[in-house]
Amino acid sequence: MTLAPKDTSSNDTAPETEGETAMVEPSAADDRAPAAGEQRRPSVVTRERRQGLLNPSGETPYLVVEDLTVKFPTADGVVSAVNGLSYSVPLGRTLAIVGESGSGKSVSSMAVMGLHDRKRTKITGSIRLGGDEIVGLPESELMKVRGDAVAMVFQDPQSSLHPLYTVGNQIVEAYQVHHKVSKDVAKKRALEMLDLVGIPNPQRRFAQYPHEFSGGMRQRAMIAMGLVNDPKLVIADEPTTALDVTVQAQILDLLNNLQKEFGSAIVLITHDLGVVAEMADDVLVMYAGRCVEYGTAEDVLARPRMPYTWGLLESIPTVSAANERLRPIKGLPPSLLNLPTGCSFNPRCPYKDRVKGERCTTELPELLPVDGAGAHMSRCHLHDKASIYEAEVEPRLG
Ligand SMILES: Nc1ncnc2c1ncn2[C@@H]1O[C@H](COP(=O)(O)OP(=O)(O)O)[C@@H](O)[C@H]1O
Ligand code: SF4
Ligand SMILES: [Mg+2]
Repeated sequence: MTLAPKDTSSNDTAPETEGETAMVEPSAADDRAPAAGEQRRPSVVTRERRQGLLNPSGETPYLVVEDLTVKFPTADGVVSAVNGLSYSVPLGRTLAIVGESGSGKSVSSMAVMGLHDRKRTKITGSIRLGGDEIVGLPESELMKVRGDAVAMVFQDPQSSLHPLYTVGNQIVEAYQVHHKVSKDVAKKRALEMLDLVGIPNPQRRFAQYPHEFSGGMRQRAMIAMGLVNDPKLVIADEPTTALDVTVQAQILDLLNNLQKEFGSAIVLITHDLGVVAEMADDVLVMYAGRCVEYGTAEDVLARPRMPYTWGLLESIPTVSAANERLRPIKGLPPSLLNLPTGCSFNPRCPYKDRVKGERCTTELPELLPVDGAGAHMSRCHLHDKASIYEAEVEPRLG
């Protein structure tokens, strides 16, 4: 089936979700020896051109990530979790970062939050918030730049809400960290937030503990805590994965509506293309630490130009095809200790024989504009991506 991209014209009802997406889980970290470095072609895309291209909306971005690389030196070798990632997000816009688990979505977003352990992580590249560089800043400076401008919403509210403090007091504290106000003023603000995120009877709920909330209500409480300081950037990491489909739709609807109210930039991390279709303005597909396709949701969902994206779309279960067998992507993502040479997707790619010679296994494809122009980019050596998609992949999507 074809996914309809986010409808930005209305905000009243959440479109039906597509249910859980079947994805192949990655292998446990294995202990093969690190491979020799991959071969690279010299870049044909200049820095200026790339900056222009990696901004599908053309609006002034609030968050700019450029050539971000995150590596973890371990006893088994260096884990290259994020490799040359670039993207940008303007205020009021949602970028979905999508990919199977282990592709580097969370690691890249934690770098934006400045949450990595500095001693165990090597980060290079640039991350700018409202024009201010945060890579390489000492902790105290980072706090100043990031301040209350960035909030993160996680998959598991249990990990962010303290079990021994009432929900209300935790929101009060989160507010008082950034605002020198009395407890009464902060409480008023917390009650407003609980109301805003759709928690009934905020007065009573304020005094309750996290275990007294249902999963969906806990997620709402965490969103209230994340948004209490009116952040310019919200990073939501699989915010609905643990919830059932109905509650999932409500929470996504809430995030959409809050974005309209606060005008924040949202980076939404998910493995679920149904969620992407519902929420995203722009989409970045990650595979093995790299961006493999990037563009507006319209471009990426309706005119995908990379075999991995095709595989993700084909692996979505549909209501109409409930009895049909799903087509999960065969094989597993590579070990990040030992990436394949050439295109990282080549061991799993059903189209690599369509590329002349050994390019898929020897030459890393550049992230280049699709059809030679525009803001839609993909990383693949295939010449006839559009015709293969239209003739072979699209009909299978139904
Ligand atoms: N602190 C760490 N040390 C070593 N490897 C890590 C560390 N954190 C994450 N990784 C590895 O980085 C890769 C990307 O992880 P992650 O960003 O969490 O994936 P996802 O796309 O599922 O969010 C995974 O292979 C993970 O095992
Ligand atoms: S570069 Fe080759 S292996 Fe990689 S996605 Fe394209 S066709 Fe497949
Ligand atoms: Mg993750």
